[in-house]
Amino acid sequence: MIEASAPGKVILFGEHFVVKGSRAIATAVDLRARARAERAERGISIDSANLGSSARLSLDLSGTYGPEMAPYVAVLRALRERGYSLIPHRALLTSEMPLSAGLGSSAASSVAYALAYSALHGSPLGERELFEVSLEGERVAHGNPSGIDNAIAVKGGTVVYRRGEAPREVEVRLGGHSLIIVDSGEKRSTREAVEGVLRLADRHWRALEKLYLAADAIVEEAIALLSAGDAEGLGELMNVNHGLLSAVGVSTAKLDLIAHELRRAGALGAKLTGAGRGGCVIAIAQAGRAQRIAEHVKGLGYEAFLSGLGAPGARLETI
Ligand code: PMV
Repeated sequence: MIEASAPGKVILFGEHFVVKGSRAIATAVDLRARARAERAERGISIDSANLGSSARLSLDLSGTYGPEMAPYVAVLRALRERGYSLIPHRALLTSEMPLSAGLGSSAASSVAYALAYSALHGSPLGERELFEVSLEGERVAHGNPSGIDNAIAVKGGTVVYRRGEAPREVEVRLGGHSLIIVDSGEKRSTREAVEGVLRLADRHWRALEKLYLAADAIVEEAIALLSAGDAEGLGELMNVNHGLLSAVGVSTAKLDLIAHELRRAGALGAKLTGAGRGGCVIAIAQAGRAQRIAEHVKGLGYEAFLSGLGAPGARLETI
């Protein structure tokens, strides 16, 4: 039996504005997707505990499965193209992340499965191939992914990225502080949120261009504050970034309320993360206070998780 895991991510600054050329910062979080794989007598079976779904395949990859399992079949196809013969096995996929909440659960699951299968085969994929193979899964799930979720799931850490450029590692000195990740429970579509913002930007570009420049300036300053360990400054920038995202129409009453409650309970700052119109809110707080703040929002009926920044990338686990 082999187990591999890979982290989810949150976008700290710059989502949406990154679509039209500004920069964004993303970090790997302490919530992981896991894949366990073991050899079987014949055929391939993949079960996803979170999706409540499974695929039963023969070794030529024909079989029965729903569209939600197609990414893992795409991973196997990509592995076969790279010379990995298909061997009979069973795989169980689990994820600590809520689904469709912008935390990168699908990319992390594809990465974990590709690593577990290649290790079961006897030669675990290296970083570059792991990225490429898992991206085939993400393409099936999301059409035209930027690849940032896969890059973070493979390498972990904290990165700044701009469309069309390779992500660059950012130094983080924030010991003593935690992220709080709160799931609003509202399911959203990244595609619709992105299209809505682009439409608004096109209609009012002279005014909105200033917001895009502001978002990029926030990222610039945040890079300096992350390496200086200035959590208070980062909290302030999170609040401003949330305001920009509200301005372009991707916050909701619930996301605003959660951000407000997190700040009221003592967080240094809070913002929605990812596509918005639902999904998650993140906050930064002193580690000693984070648990109490999380309890406060749990008391309001939301799921909340604590995390550090820059969690380790994909790895094989000893079980
Ligand atoms: O919520 P997520 O993880 O799907 O993030 C979307 C991030 C956007 O900037 C809104 C879109 C993109 O492709 O960068």
